[in-house]
Amino acid sequence: MTKNYPKVSEDYQKAIDKAKRKLRGFIAEKGCAPLMLRLAWHSAGTYDVKTKSGGPFGTIKHGAELAHNANNGLDIAVRLLEPLKEQFPMISYADFYQLAGVVAVEITGGPEIPFHPGREDKPEPPPEGRLPDATKGSDHLRDVFGRAMGLSDRDIVALSGGHTLGRCHKERSGFEGPWTTNPLIFDNSYFTELLSGEKEGLLKLPTDLALLSDPIFRPLVEKYAADEDAFFADYSEAHMKLSELGFAEA
Ligand code: HEM
Repeated sequence: MTKNYPKVSEDYQKAIDKAKRKLRGFIAEKGCAPLMLRLAWHSAGTYDVKTKSGGPFGTIKHGAELAHNANNGLDIAVRLLEPLKEQFPMISYADFYQLAGVVAVEITGGPEIPFHPGREDKPEPPPEGRLPDATKGSDHLRDVFGRAMGLSDRDIVALSGGHTLGRCHKERSGFEGPWTTNPLIFDNSYFTELLSGEKEGLLKLPTDLALLSDPIFRPLVEKYAADEDAFFADYSEAHMKLSELGFAEA
C-alpha cells in the first residue's frame, strides 16, 4: 500500500531525533527493551481494518485500555516512559510509544526499522479483546493479524520473532519464562529454539507451537532459523507495517 506520510515541522523532526537518542540511553539503562516492544505492539495491534478503529494512536496510556486483559503489566511501561515523555510535550504519545518500540529492537541488536513521525493521538481506546489469545492456534492468528489488522502470513511469522526478547510473567499472563536463553538480545534464536524442541527453562506458547504445525508458517520458521539476515529484513518491514496501521493511508 502506498503511504501518504504527513509532513511534520522541522522542530517536530528535531524533537523526534532527540527523543530517539534519549530513549536509547533510557531503555538501555533500565533494561526494559522487552516491555517497550510489547507496549508498542499492543498499542498498534488493536487496529481493525474494517472499522479503521484502534491502532498505534496513544490510547494505550488510558486506564481503560491498560485494564484490558492482554495489557497486564503495561501500566509499568507507560509509567516508566512518562518522565521522559514530559520532556517532549510536542511529540504525540502515539509517535513516542512507537519510537520506543523501534529503539527497543535497535539497541538490543535487532534491525533498524524506518520510523515516520506524525501520528496523532486519538481520544477513544479500542474495545477489549482485539489482541491475540496465546492459548489458540493458527486460524486465530490469521483472524487477528490477517483479517483484522491486514497483515500477511509472512508478517505473522516474522513478528512472532519479537519473542526473541523478554519473557512471560505468571502474575501478568499466567505463563512463565523466556523463549530464548538471552532475552535481552534481539536475534533469530526464537526460531532456532522453536525448532530445537523442549528445553528446560524455555517456554513455548500454544501460538508459538502453531507456527510449527501450520504448512505455510513452518517453512518461514525454518528459513528464519537458518538465515538471520532474512529474518531481520522481513521483521523490519513487518514491524514498520505494524507501527503504521491506520496511519498515513493514501
Ligand atoms: C503471535 C501472537 C502473540 C501472542 C499470543 C503473544 C503473547 C504474549 C504473552 C502471553 C506474553 C507474556 C506477557 C507477560 O506475562 O509478561 C508476551 C510477551 C511479550 N511479547 Fe508477545 N505475543 C504475540 C505476539 C507478539 C509480537 C508480534 C511481538 C512484537 C513484535 C511481541 C512481543 C512481546 C515481548 C517483547 C514480550 C516480553 C515482554 C516482557 O518481557 O515484559 N509479541 N507475549
